[in-house]
Amino acid sequence: MNGEPAILGGPKAVSFDYSMLRERSGREAERAVLAAMRQGRLSAHRISDLLAELEAGFAARQRAKHALSFNSCTSSLFAAMFAIGLRPGDELIVPAYGYHAAVHPILYTGAIPVFCDVEPTSFSLDTEQVVARITDRTRGIVDINMWGIPGDLRRLREIADAHDLYLIEDASRGLGGTVGDNAIGSIGHIGCFSFSTGKVISASEGGILVTDDDVLYSRALSIGHPVFREPADRQYVAFSDTALGVKHNIHPLSVCIASAKLKELQKRSLQCGENYASFLRALDGLPFLRTMKTKPADRRGAWSGIAFSYDSRALGLSTQLFAEALRAEGCRVKMEYESNILYRGNALRNAHLFFETPTIGPPGPFPVTETIGKELLVAEGVVSYSIPIDELADAYGHAVEKVASAAAAIGRQYSE
Ligand SMILES: Cc1ncc(COP(=O)(O)O)c(C=O)c1O
Repeated sequence: MNGEPAILGGPKAVSFDYSMLRERSGREAERAVLAAMRQGRLSAHRISDLLAELEAGFAARQRAKHALSFNSCTSSLFAAMFAIGLRPGDELIVPAYGYHAAVHPILYTGAIPVFCDVEPTSFSLDTEQVVARITDRTRGIVDINMWGIPGDLRRLREIADAHDLYLIEDASRGLGGTVGDNAIGSIGHIGCFSFSTGKVISASEGGILVTDDDVLYSRALSIGHPVFREPADRQYVAFSDTALGVKHNIHPLSVCIASAKLKELQKRSLQCGENYASFLRALDGLPFLRTMKTKPADRRGAWSGIAFSYDSRALGLSTQLFAEALRAEGCRVKMEYESNILYRGNALRNAHLFFETPTIGPPGPFPVTETIGKELLVAEGVVSYSIPIDELADAYGHAVEKVASAAAAIGRQYSE
């Protein structure tokens, strides 16, 4: 039934038209963009009503006191690092595995990222390791949500509160998810989200920060948002005209798209959740694959990628060869980017060309992160927010079975 694997000349298991998964703007976003263009509402001044609606809507969705939009999540993370008042020599505990945008901005403050290993179930920070890395120079903890699966965010908040530290969540891939009753991104003191490509609210470019804290909000505003909004803490009114010289405002047309998509967030998250469940069903129960699941009381954030760990010992095929065989079947599968193993990142290791302070804290070991580099396979952009993809998930399941049952033959062919 399984047939010859495609890597050995057989037919492909996946004949899906991937262009079906491409993000298309909905009617409402199109109408809003066209209206803004036709009415000449192409400056933040002229679009301030929609901007206020987006920020208020997002804050309400996250049950946060403030939401502040940005031109990217990267900018919102940059603002978060300044907002918490980092000073040269301070330390911030960050995951060894994650996305660079949550770490690089730390360097601009003169503070030092101290890497910490992640837990194998969510790839979020390992809470025990975090405690072990706290020193009298530690000012905060950054958690990064990579696969929509929430980590132990409540425990991280407890640790932060007990040691008088800030918890910043990079929740870019966790929007729509929950830990118990709390929204991912609203458990820390600051949560940052992205509206760039591939996100559940993708508005071409953009980001947003949430916080309950008036001072943190006012400081994030002061870094890069000249005019329009009032700081909640009057001390920061001096920055209302000019900010501190960088410009972080979201593009007006991105505001139109993000506002329209925010209204669909619930629907899009549910579809994404159902589609992720279809993949889990298709890939579950195989002794050589481990998929990522949420705890029963939590909900996965809406993120279009899936990750699964592959045990090369069970089939006798290297991770590279297994991935190649799946790609031959038509699956969009690759090994995790080397740059997401953050302490190995080229930019970070060469940051001394720009910064004088040490750019990385004490070295590992980071055993879980090291396994990610060897075993994690990722399929990006396959879990649609808008259409059911059971057929695609079944085809991936079939592709995996084909490769597994022909593993010996594939191994023989490729070792010759
Ligand atoms: C986890 C994570 N954090 C931060 C970012 C940065 O977002 P942006 O491109 O909006 O700056 C991304 C972008 O893909 C991301 O995946």
